[in-house]
Amino acid sequence: MDRDQLIDLTRRALKLARDKTTDLAPAPHRVDARDYTSVERHDRDRALLMASPQLVGYASELSGPGAYCTKTVMGRSILLTRTSDGSVRAFDNVCLHRQSPVVTGCGRATRFTCPYHAWTYDNTGRLVGLPGREGFPGIAGRRQGGTALNADGLTELPAAEFAGFLWVALDPGATLDVAAHLGPLADELDSWGIGRWSPLGEKVLDCPINWKLAVDTFSENYHFATVHRQTFATIARSNCTVFDAYGPHHRLIFPLNTILELDNVPEAQWDPFHNIVVIYALFPNIVLSVTIANGELFRIYPGDRPGRSITVHQNSTPLDVSEESVAAGAQAVFEYAHATVRDEDYRLVEGLQANLESGARDHLIFGRNEPGLQHRHIEWARALAQAPSAV
Ligand code: FES
Ligand SMILES: [Fe+2]
Repeated sequence: MDRDQLIDLTRRALKLARDKTTDLAPAPHRVDARDYTSVERHDRDRALLMASPQLVGYASELSGPGAYCTKTVMGRSILLTRTSDGSVRAFDNVCLHRQSPVVTGCGRATRFTCPYHAWTYDNTGRLVGLPGREGFPGIAGRRQGGTALNADGLTELPAAEFAGFLWVALDPGATLDVAAHLGPLADELDSWGIGRWSPLGEKVLDCPINWKLAVDTFSENYHFATVHRQTFATIARSNCTVFDAYGPHHRLIFPLNTILELDNVPEAQWDPFHNIVVIYALFPNIVLSVTIANGELFRIYPGDRPGRSITVHQNSTPLDVSEESVAAGAQAVFEYAHATVRDEDYRLVEGLQANLESGARDHLIFGRNEPGLQHRHIEWARALAQAPSAV
C-alpha cells in the first residue's frame, strides 16, 4: 500500500477516533439462527468453499525449487511443490496404491516415497518408483520412456502463486483465476509483502463453533472493550472501524489507541502504520491481519457438522528469524495472538453456538456499527443464491 493511501486511511481512522464513532452500515441487519445450525446450509457452505479459489499459505512456504509443503483444506490433504522452473504445482496428497498420504509436513525434496509400500513420486506428481512391480501389471506395463511409470500420477489440482500467496482450486477440472477473484485488492495485498515474509508455522483450532461464527469474530471490533479488555483493548480502540468493501471481500482498519496522538503531529511526519491494524476478509473463508510486524493468516473451514469448524492460524514476520532470539520473540508474539483468539474469542462464541442450536431464539441482529459483519453475511447469502445447487 503506498504512503498516500495509508495516510488517507489514517486520516479517516483518526477522524472516527476523535469523533468517538465508527463507519456505519445504513441499517441493522437480521440473520436467521439456522444459518449457523442447519445441515442443509452447512452442505451448501461446504460446496461454496469447494467452488472458491482457496488461499492456502504464503508464497514463502515454498522458498525455492525443490521446496514442498502440505496443507489440509476441509479434511483434504494437499501437497504443494515448487518445481525446477520455479512454478507452483498442487496435488491431492493421496497415494495411487491404497491412498496413504504420500508425505507430511514441509521441507525440501524432489521425490516423495509413500511411507506404506514405498511407491515414489517426483515433484511434478509422476509415479517414478514402484517396488514389487509384478503385482501391478496394469501400471507397471505402462512404462512410457524416461522414468515415468504411469502417465496419470498424483491427481493434480489447479495451483497458482499470486499476490504473494499460494492458491489452489479443489476441483481438478476448475479454472483458477485468482486475479478475477481478488479484483482491485490483488495489488494492495501484494504490496504488503507479507506472503514473502518468513513463515512461522501453523496452529490449528478444532472448535465446536460454526465456521461463520469463527469468521464473525474477526469482522468487528465492537467486542474489544469487553472480550479483550486485558489484551487487544489495551492497545486498540473498541467500536471504531474504517470499513471498505471490494466486491465480496472487505477491508477493516482498526485504529490503535495511539492514533489520537497524531492530532499534534504534521501529516508529513506521520508514521501511519504504527497506528493501525489492517484486517482483510477474503471471500469466503480467509482472514488476513497485517501490522508492522505480523502478517497473520486465518484459514477457516467448515468441519464435519454445522457446529464444528477448523481454523488454521499462520503468521509471518519481516524480521530475520535466522537469529535465534529474534525467532523466539516472533514465536512468542504468534503464541500470544493465538492464545487470545483461542481463549477469548473462540471460547466465548462456543456459548453462542450452543444457544443457536438450542432453538431458543430464531435470529441474530448485526448493528449499523458492524458493517464488516453485515457484509460477510450478505455476500455469503448472495453467492449461495447464485450457486447452481441453490434450492
Ligand atoms: S499406500 Fe502408498 S505405497 Fe501403498
Ligand atoms: Fe476478538
